[in-house]
Amino acid sequence: MCGIVGVVGRLGNLNAARPNQSVANDAAANLVINNDNSIGVVDVLMEGLRRLEYRGYDSAGVATLVDGKIERRRAMGKLENLRTLLAEKPFHQPGTIGIGHTRWATHGEPSTRNAHPHKGERVVVVHNGIIENYRDLRDELTKRGVTFTSETDTEVIAHLLDQALLRGLKPQQAVAETLPLLHGAFALAMLFQGYDDLLIGARRGSPLCLGYRNAAIDDDSHTGVAAHLLASDALALAGMVDQVTYLEEGDWVVLSAMQAVIYNADNQVVARPSQPLAMNGQQTDKGLFPHFMLKEIHEQPATVVDSLLPFINPLERQLTIDLPGIDWAKLHHVTLVGCGTAFYVGMVAKYWFEELAALPAIVDIASEFRYRATRSQMAELVVFVSQSGETADTLAAMRFAKERGQKTLAIVNVPTSTMAREADIVLHTHAGPEISVASTKASTAQLTVLAALCLAAARGRGVINAEQLSAHLAAFADLPGQFAAVLAEDDTYRRIGVQLAEARNILFIGRGSCYPVAMEGALKMKELTYIHAEGFPAGELKHGPIALLDSGVPVITLAPPDRLQEKTLSNMQEAMARSAPIILLSDAASCQRFGNQAGITPLALPTTSTLTAPLVYTLPMQLLAYYCAVARGTDVDQPRNLAKSVTVE
Ligand code: G6P
Repeated sequence: MCGIVGVVGRLGNLNAARPNQSVANDAAANLVINNDNSIGVVDVLMEGLRRLEYRGYDSAGVATLVDGKIERRRAMGKLENLRTLLAEKPFHQPGTIGIGHTRWATHGEPSTRNAHPHKGERVVVVHNGIIENYRDLRDELTKRGVTFTSETDTEVIAHLLDQALLRGLKPQQAVAETLPLLHGAFALAMLFQGYDDLLIGARRGSPLCLGYRNAAIDDDSHTGVAAHLLASDALALAGMVDQVTYLEEGDWVVLSAMQAVIYNADNQVVARPSQPLAMNGQQTDKGLFPHFMLKEIHEQPATVVDSLLPFINPLERQLTIDLPGIDWAKLHHVTLVGCGTAFYVGMVAKYWFEELAALPAIVDIASEFRYRATRSQMAELVVFVSQSGETADTLAAMRFAKERGQKTLAIVNVPTSTMAREADIVLHTHAGPEISVASTKASTAQLTVLAALCLAAARGRGVINAEQLSAHLAAFADLPGQFAAVLAEDDTYRRIGVQLAEARNILFIGRGSCYPVAMEGALKMKELTYIHAEGFPAGELKHGPIALLDSGVPVITLAPPDRLQEKTLSNMQEAMARSAPIILLSDAASCQRFGNQAGITPLALPTTSTLTAPLVYTLPMQLLAYYCAVARGTDVDQPRNLAKSVTVE
C-alpha cells in the first residue's frame, strides 16, 4: 500500500481541452496557476496524493529541489495536515520536480520522522512496499557509519543510493547498482540533489505507472511545456496526462521533462506500450454526497448493470459469457481466492457453484492459500477476486497457482492492474473507481460477474435446463430495480443505524449464501464503526455465540425467502428469547408475520432468488454500517488503520 507520486517538468493549464477528456477537470479548481500558465509542482503532487489517499493515510510528505537542494515537508496523519504545513511553511521557489507519498505504516509507527520522503545526503526517496532484507542492509550501513533517522525499511534505500553516489557514480548508475540489493516489493520514485531535470522510478512487486503530458496540445503558445509523472495508480494522473504506460515487473525508468527511458530488470532499454488515460479527474469527486461511500452505494443500480451486460443479455435471457479453454464438464472442483470483502464474495460463489452447477468449490483466504499444501491447490481452475487487482496476498497467490500450472481466472475492477495483466483469463467488473476504503459497488459487481460464471458452469456441466437458465437470467433483469427499491429506504436505514450506534457488540446471522453476506455485514460494521461485530451461520448461534446475547447485543438476521428461511427464523427466535434486539431482513410476508412482536425491527426487502439474494441483502449491510458510522462520528471513507489497496503481505 502507500501511494507514491512524482513529477518532472511543467504542466500547462489543466483546463485546456485534452483529446481524451470530454469534461472540464475538477483538479484544476484546487491548483495554483503560475505566471507562465503552468501548474505548481507542489499542487500537482498534492492533487495526486489526494486521489491516492485511499492507499494509506498515516502520514504524508512531499519533496522538491530548491536551487538544486533537497527540501521536504512531512506531516503525521491525513493529507490535510500536510496541506496545513505547506501553507505555514511553503517551499522557497519550488522547481519543476517533486515526489510525494501517502503512508500506510508497515515498519515504524505512524509519525513525522517515519513519514516519507526519506533522505540521504544527496538523494530523496518515496517507497511503496516492503524491503524484506532491510535489517541486514541497515546493519551493514550502520557499520559503515551511516546514521538512521527513522525506523522504516525505506531509509536503507536512500542511504544505499547515497553511498553509491559518494563513490562517484552517477544517479542512474547508483540506481542500477542498488535495485538488485533490495529483496521484497517496491515501487520507488527518487530525486537527486543537483539534478533538477531527473526523476527515477522503479517497480518490483508494487504497481507504478508513468504518465506523459504532451507539450504540443498544452496551450496556444506551444511554449514547449512538457512533463512526465509517476504514480502508484493511474487515477492520480487522470486529467493531468495524455498517455500512460504501466511499467512491468522489474522495470525502472529514467525521466526528464522531455524524455523517458525505460529499463528492464537486466538494465536493457525496453519499449513498453502506452495508452490514452480514459479517466478524468471528476471520477475522483464525491459530488453532492457527504462521503464517497454513500455515493458509491447509490451507484450500484448502474454499476450492477454495467458489470452484467458484458456477460448476460437479461432482456433476451441469453448468457453471453465466453471462457476460452474451460471445459466445465471435466472440472472436479474450483477454488476461489480473495481477501477481505473479496473473500466473502468468493464464499457466496462457493454456494452458487455447488448449488447451481453441482461443482464442488473451495474458498480460501489469499494469505493462507499459497502457504497451504492441500489438495485445494490442485484445482484446475482458480478464481481470484480483487477490486484493485493489486492486493499483494491475492497477487502472490495467483502467481503461486500459475507456477503450479493451474488455470487462473481474475475478476478485477481496475482493468490495467497487475492481476488483469497476468491472469490467464480476466473478467472485468465495471464498477468504476471505488474511492471509499470499504468496498461497496465493487463487491456487488464481483457478485454479478460470479453469478454469470456459475450459470456458465451449470450450463457447461449440463445440470441446468433452458427453462431454469432463463428464469435465473430473468431475475437479473430485476436487480437494478430491486437495488433502487432498497436504496429508496435510505431514511429507514439511517434511523436504525443511529440506534445501532449504542451497541456493544453486533451479531449478524444468515444461512446458505447469506451466511457470507452476514460475515460481510459484520466486517463492514467493525471496519467503519469500530463496534465489535461478528457474522455466524444462523445454525451455529446455539453452539457458542448465543452466550454473548443480552439486550445490548443486536442480532441482524438475514432470512431471504429460500428453503432455509424457516430454520433461520427459528434461530432468530432463539436470540429473541435471550432479549437480543432483532433486526430482521426478509421478504415482505415474513416481515409482516413478525412485525407486531416486541423487540423486532423488520426491514422488508424485494423478493429474491438463489442468485439475487446475496446481492440484494448486501446493500442493507452497507447502509447500516454507513449510517451507524456517521452516527458515531467515525471517519467513514478512511477508517483508522485501514487502507484500500493492500500491496504488502
Ligand atoms: C483491503 C480493503 C478491503 C478489501 C480488501 C481486498 O483490506 O480494506 O475493503 O476488500 O483489501 O482488496 P481487493 O482490492 O483485492 O479487492
